[in-house]
Amino acid sequence: MVHSFSEIKTLFSEYLANNLFYKNPQSLYDPMNYLIGLGGKRARPAMALMAHELFQPLTENAYRTAMAIEVFHNFTLMHDDIIDQATHRRAQPTVHYKYDTNVAILSGDAMMIESYQWISKIDKIELIPSLYERFNKHALGVCYGQQMDLEFETRNDVTIEQYVEMIRLKTAVLLGCAMAMGAEVAGADIQAQEHLQLFGENIGIAFQLQDDFLDTYGDPETFGKRVGGDIIQNKKTYLYLKALELADEEQKAVLEKLYNNDHDLSDEEKITQVKKIFNSLVIPEYVLQLMDAYNNLGISHLKALGLEERKYQALINLCTYLLQRNS
Ligand code: IPE
Ligand code: IPE
Ligand code: MG
Ligand code: MG
Ligand code: MG
Repeated sequence: MVHSFSEIKTLFSEYLANNLFYKNPQSLYDPMNYLIGLGGKRARPAMALMAHELFQPLTENAYRTAMAIEVFHNFTLMHDDIIDQATHRRAQPTVHYKYDTNVAILSGDAMMIESYQWISKIDKIELIPSLYERFNKHALGVCYGQQMDLEFETRNDVTIEQYVEMIRLKTAVLLGCAMAMGAEVAGADIQAQEHLQLFGENIGIAFQLQDDFLDTYGDPETFGKRVGGDIIQNKKTYLYLKALELADEEQKAVLEKLYNNDHDLSDEEKITQVKKIFNSLVIPEYVLQLMDAYNNLGISHLKALGLEERKYQALINLCTYLLQRNS
């Protein structure tokens, strides 16, 4: 039987609830339970489980893989929120804001190690080396992507191509990795694993485009993070880079001044000014177009597996949901 995303999410949530970090010291583990317990969409573990189900019904090893991916994801969020000086996540205070930065650094470190321990629990011993190889490659990719994202904040020569590579690394490779590892644990061959890695990466690029879109255009009631945070941090998102490309001389000068902190506006005034320019250049429509293109590319890799449609329909539905989501 192939489960829908919402069924898989429920199954994963139950597994997670039974496997929270009941360990000492509390000061290290409470923040982990806090963050992962806040929920979120659970897109990555769902992808690992759904990839597994393309080849085999769910097993304990499938859940271990999903846990490794979700715990790692939550570790990256804990540190990302320090880097981005974010005060809210999943509609609640971020870990460094609620506790303090040192707690978030250490708890995040421990969480990363916990994610590795989930992989070591997979009892198909012969697969462990290649699972670690893939996981390590992409975990390092996330660090590299995060580093690029940070460097781009103070650079004025970022290209759209470089932006796409940055989001591929910081976000998309982990979605790909979830798919490929879920499939490998289920016995898929290397060719299928690669198609699913690329499915996840292309969907992941579309996913991060929607994240960037919501950061400016999301509804504060549902988004769960501070709307406008990327603008305040001078993030070189597709919204900004496309706007620069389309702007006239005057708009370009205003955008550059605002993103070089060469102004005396409040955060809210800056957000309003930037948004006004984005709107006049119909930036949301360009984001939608690019998202669609990566979504289609992703789905072509899913179809390339040659499976019956009923087996992968739930994954296609998940893509639709991810690109239309409001949080
Ligand atoms: C947030 O990921 C970080 C990004 C890569 C955009 P999600 O949007 O998947 O966050 P949760 O897990 O659903 O809260
Ligand atoms: C973060 O990207 C990607 C990670 C590797 C965590 P963002 O900084 O855009 O993610 P959010 O918006 O804070 O969730
Ligand atoms: Mg970030
Ligand atoms: Mg962030
Ligand atoms: Mg974001």
